[in-house]
Formats: sequence, C-alpha cells, structure tokens
Amino acid sequence: MTDLVRLERNEDIGVIVIDHPPVNALSSAVRQGVIDALETLANDLTLKAGVLTCATRTFVAGADIREFDNPPPGAKTTNDVCRALDQSPKPVVAALFGTALGGGLEIALACHARVISPDGAVGLPEVKIGLLPGAGGTQRLPRLIGALHALDIITSGRHVPAAEALKLGIVDEIGTDHRGLAINRARAMAQTGEMPRVRDLAVPEMDRAAFDKAADAIRKKARGAVAPGEAAASVARALDVPFDDAILAESAAFHALRTGPQSKALRHIFMAERAAGKLPPGIAADTQPWTIRSTGVIGGGTMGAGIAICIADSGLPVTLVEVSDAAVEGARGRIAAVYDRQLKQGRLSEAEHAHRLSRIDFATDVKALADADLVIEAIIENLEAKQDLFRRLSAVVRRDAVLASNTSYLNIELLADVVDNPERVLGLHFFSPAHVMRLLEIVRPKRLAAAGLATALALAKRIRKQPVIAGVCDGFIGNRLFAHWRLQTDFALEDGALPHEVDAALEAWGLAMGPFAVGDLSGLDIGWSNRKRLAPTRNPAARYVPIADWICELGRYGQKTGAGWYLHKDGKREIDPVVTALVEKASAARGITRKPVSAERIQLRVLAAMANEGAKILGEGIASRPSDIDVTLVHGYGFPAWRGGPMHAADAVGLETILAAVRDMYAESGPGLEPAPLLEQLVATGQNFASLNR
Ligand code: 3HC
Repeated sequence: MTDLVRLERNEDIGVIVIDHPPVNALSSAVRQGVIDALETLANDLTLKAGVLTCATRTFVAGADIREFDNPPPGAKTTNDVCRALDQSPKPVVAALFGTALGGGLEIALACHARVISPDGAVGLPEVKIGLLPGAGGTQRLPRLIGALHALDIITSGRHVPAAEALKLGIVDEIGTDHRGLAINRARAMAQTGEMPRVRDLAVPEMDRAAFDKAADAIRKKARGAVAPGEAAASVARALDVPFDDAILAESAAFHALRTGPQSKALRHIFMAERAAGKLPPGIAADTQPWTIRSTGVIGGGTMGAGIAICIADSGLPVTLVEVSDAAVEGARGRIAAVYDRQLKQGRLSEAEHAHRLSRIDFATDVKALADADLVIEAIIENLEAKQDLFRRLSAVVRRDAVLASNTSYLNIELLADVVDNPERVLGLHFFSPAHVMRLLEIVRPKRLAAAGLATALALAKRIRKQPVIAGVCDGFIGNRLFAHWRLQTDFALEDGALPHEVDAALEAWGLAMGPFAVGDLSGLDIGWSNRKRLAPTRNPAARYVPIADWICELGRYGQKTGAGWYLHKDGKREIDPVVTALVEKASAARGITRKPVSAERIQLRVLAAMANEGAKILGEGIASRPSDIDVTLVHGYGFPAWRGGPMHAADAVGLETILAAVRDMYAESGPGLEPAPLLEQLVATGQNFASLNR
C-alpha cells in the first residue's frame, strides 16, 4: 500500500480509504495502493468484505490529469484496478460522496454495489477533456442502466445528482452516512454471498434504431470535436462485442485520444480555467477577500437584469436601481421572463422560483444602495454618464463598498478618479446574456487593492462565472482580440470571398456560427465599424473590391428591407442572391473578376491576427499569461474549446507560420497589424506561448 491509500478496519469489514487531496485523483500511486489494499483484503481471513471510499471532500474525481502527458512507464492502469475488483473474492461496496467522476465512477462501477450521500453526484466527464471513459465506463454503464441513458451521460459529461443516479440504477442506496451504509451493505452481502459483477450483466433490451439516431445526432452536434463520436462508438460496442474485446477497443480509443491534439487542447483549457481563477503573480495567494453580503445593480436593461439574476441565483440579495418607475417595471419584466421560462421548463421549482425573485428588490434612487457591499453599474456605455454616476455613488455608499463597472471598453481608471477611495473601483465585464455566458472579465485598474481583486475572484466563484483578470485598455482582453478577428473577416470580403464562404471556413474550423451569420441576427450595418477603427490604410493593391463600396450598400439594403446576408429556408441558410448580385455589380463596374479566397487562408489569418494581438496584450501586461487569453476567447466568444484558445492554437500551427502570416497582413493592411515584439522574440528564440504559462 502507498501513503495515499490505507486499509481501516470496522470489525470484519476492511475500509479502503483513498487520501489524495484535493480531489483524490487516481494517480499511478493511488491505483497501486488500491490494488495492494484489495490484495490485503482478499488474504486477510478476519475480513469478510470491503468498502471503497475516500478521505477529505470528495470521492475520486477521476484519473490524475497531470499524469496524462507523461504516464509513468509500467504503472498499473485504472482498468487494472477494475480487474482487481472483478477478481476480488469478497464483495466490495463503493461509498460515494462529493463528485465521483471519470475513473472514480469507473472503479465504483466495478464494485459490487454503490451507495451515495444525498448531496453527491456521479458522472463520466471525459469528453469534456477530449477523451472517452477509458476504464470500462462505456461498457459497464450501459449494462447497468441501458445504452441510451449511458450514451447521454457519457457523451454529455454531465454530473448526475444522487437522486437521479438512484432512479437510473447507477447507485443502490442514498444516505447521509454513506460510509456506515456501505459497511452495513458489505456485511450483508458477505453473509448472503451475493456478489453481482456489472460486467456479467446483459445490456438491457432496447430500440437499436433509436440508439443509432441518437449517436448520429451527437456526432453532428460535436462540431469537429472527436471525443463525443468516439465515445458513442464505444458505447455501441457494448451492444455488439463481448465485454473483454470491447474493453480492449475502449482502451485503444482512449489512448489515441489522449495523445491527440484535441484532448491536449482541452486539458490545457481545464488547467487554464483553474489558473485564471487564482490571484495573479505579485499578489499574496492568501490575500483575504472583503465580505459581500448585500449588492446593488444600477441599470435594468438586458445586461443589468442578467447580472441581477446571476447574483440572485447565487443566494445573495440584490437591489436593482433604475431611473423611473416605468424603467423598474421594464427590468422587473425582463427578470420575471427569465425565471418564468426556467419554471416552465422544469429547471426551477415553484419554491425556488419564488425565492430567487424575492432576493431582488427594485428602487429608483441610488440612496437605496447606502448599505450595499458591492455595486455594479450597467448603464449606457458613455464615460461622462458613468463618471457622473460614480460621483453620486461615492457620496451615498459606504467608503469600503466595492464599486464596479460593467463597461466593455471604457477606461476604468477615469471612473476611479472621481470617487472617494479609488482602491475599491474595478471592472466586472459580463457577457450577454449575463445569466448564461460563463465568462467574467475582472478589470484591474492600477489603484485597485489586492483585497478588492480577491473579492472579485471570490464573487466570480460564488456566482459560478469563469473569471479572467485583465488590465485596463480599450476592449480589455476579449473585445480587443475579437475586434481583430472581425477585422480579418471583413478583409476576407475585400479580398474576394463572399460572406457565406467566410462563415463556412470558420464554421469548418470549429466556430459555432460564422461572423456574418451572427451579423445577420443583429443587422447588416453592424461589424463594419472595426475596420474603420483599426486599420484605416489598407494597401489598395491587396484588395479585390474596396469593401466600403458594397458593404455599405448592403447595409442600407439590409436596413431598408430588414434582410440580412442570408435567406432561411426549411431550417437551412442560403446566401441571399441580392448579395451576390451586388458584389458582381461592384466587380463589373471595375472590370475585375472575383478571386476566390481559400478557407485555409481565412482560417490562418484570423488566428494569426488574434495571436499577434494576444502577444501585444501580454507584452503590455494586460493579461498575465497566454492561457488567460485562451480562457477568455473560449468562454466569451465561442472559440472552439477543442482548439484550446487562440494562443494554444497558434502554438499548434507553429509561431513561425503565424509570424509570416502577420507580416503579410501588415504589408497589406498597415497600422494596427504590426508584428508584436513578443511574437518576434518567441520565434527568434524558438519558444512558444505555452512557455509563458505559469
Ligand atoms: N486530476 C488532477 N487534478 C485534478 C483533477 C484530476 N482529475 N480534478 C481536479 N483537479 C485539481 C484541480 O486542478 C485543482 O487543482 P489546484 O487547486 O492546484 O488548482 C483542484 O483539483 C481542485 O479542483 P477545482 O478547482 O476544479 O475544484 P472544484 O471543487 O471547483 O471542482 C471537480 C471539483 C468537480 C472535481 C472538478 O475539478 C472537475 O471537474 N475535475 C475534473 C474531473 C474529470 O475530468 N475527471 C475525469 C478525468 S479523466 C479519467 O478519469 C480517465 C478515466 O476514464 C481512465
């Protein structure tokens, strides 16, 4: 046995306890320890049965992700642990609590019974890090609960709460004293000699056509991510192939995914998310946050209402301030609409619906915020209006109340200037819809107190947002990079691509929706502003058609007719022939023939422009590490997580290729696209962005 696993005794029951904080990840040492403990259990004549459980806060949350890049050679696998359980001459009951995930649930499935605490959950989240369950999960779960339920759980990676796990048959019993229950059950099983092995069960009869249809839908929905399709194929083997053969195939698929680029990218994002939630270098890690008990939101438009919902969802009270009774009614309606929909969809109980609404008060005077610990403003995007509000707030709220702005571009230093005690002013940039989007950019002005930053991180955790800390600049991290992304897609039109070709190139690359399809939803005239703002002097020789000539015409056409780039027919999207006709007209007027632009060129240029701007952001100290930029783009802008974010994706392409593309773009487009000194330096020294992650 290793230090990480011990065998405790409860009379004739051996309790195997894994003690590997923080989440009892199954490292090679833990796997060896469990195998050794099972051997001791088997050989000790005074022990009749076993229990498998954990110390600290959770049952095993999965295999140890940190070992995936370099697995220790010759180490026992999680499959070896499951095999030892299958071969155990004595029954073993798993006592689950916290989150029994991945390899954790897989070893529990190889036990002879499972009990769980009422607030526990189980799941096989491997697809979220680009893998499939690699220790029998795709074979044992379908045998236990049927292939369709298993398919849903495995390909969604969702956490299944204890009550549902019991209903489905994943666990046998729920109880607060999970360890006591497991000991009693193990003792009873030893007495009856009952030792069911999940591997011996037949997969319950099912409608095969329904399964195949569901598996197809999962592949389509994955948008380029390979793991969900591989996982579905592995579950299908439970229906077609004997257990041991299917386990071998599952294992081979797991290792192929583990060493492939998508899982590496998703593991990078997993680690990056956790790094982004920590205090940055230079601030003591034990800095204590200020206490937040009461909050205020100013402005009840889409953003303000969404922010109030996030806060109320977390259990904190919030007072929403609007300018008039009529505006209060508007905000109240927006909030009620969201909660009513959740009630109707069965996502909220009647009681919870009432609780959440009751946590939100409304007022028409900022004086109502006199006692608030935190105030977030979400009024119009206008510096003078925000400064005026901060001045008024400063006169009303306590001197230690945190004052936050939800601005997406403005200079927060200028808001700190107008208040008493500027150390408590910061940006909390939510993304629309605020109650849905996970990203929260925490914008850190120079004077912000360390405890203020710690408070923002603690708040993000409480309201279940993914925080990223950014310095003050125009657009912070996310919008600054996104502007460059959009600019390149507009340039692709100038170069001769049609809007639907640009969308298709980026959707093929993994984006949920191309930029012009998104623009279609918000109006044709939007999106054009970046081009004017960021790169005013494009080399005319590089252009096919000056974009202004026809994009504005299209904008006018769109505004006039309400039409967009696309026509929508039978759920399909088709380019509006008016668009192509206008482009052809503009070309004919100049006597030029349109040159198609390859999808690869569009994809490379968009990525290179983002990576270059990201390098500038790093050079200026706006982001602490490349991985923070990756988290921002993945959680706020629909960047495909399986590409690992723009900085990771740029590393994957190779920074030399990225720099060469940036130099070409700069030659064509001028100011704004200068190669970033940091990018040049990394290329010159043969390093990559990953080398800067800490
Ligand atoms: N391996 C190694 N470290 C892990 C880990 C894992 N599987 N899961 C979590 N950790 C670490 C985190 O990196 C973090 O470390 P840090 O404190 O140094 O930053 C620490 O544990 C705490 O994690 P969180 O900050 O995420 O804590 P939360 O309480 O918010 O969440 C959790 C806990 C729900 C367990 C969440 O961490 C999680 O979802 N973990 C990943 C679970 C997972 O993907 N399991 C499958 C692994 S693959 C597998 O099992 C293969 C098998 O099929 C063979």
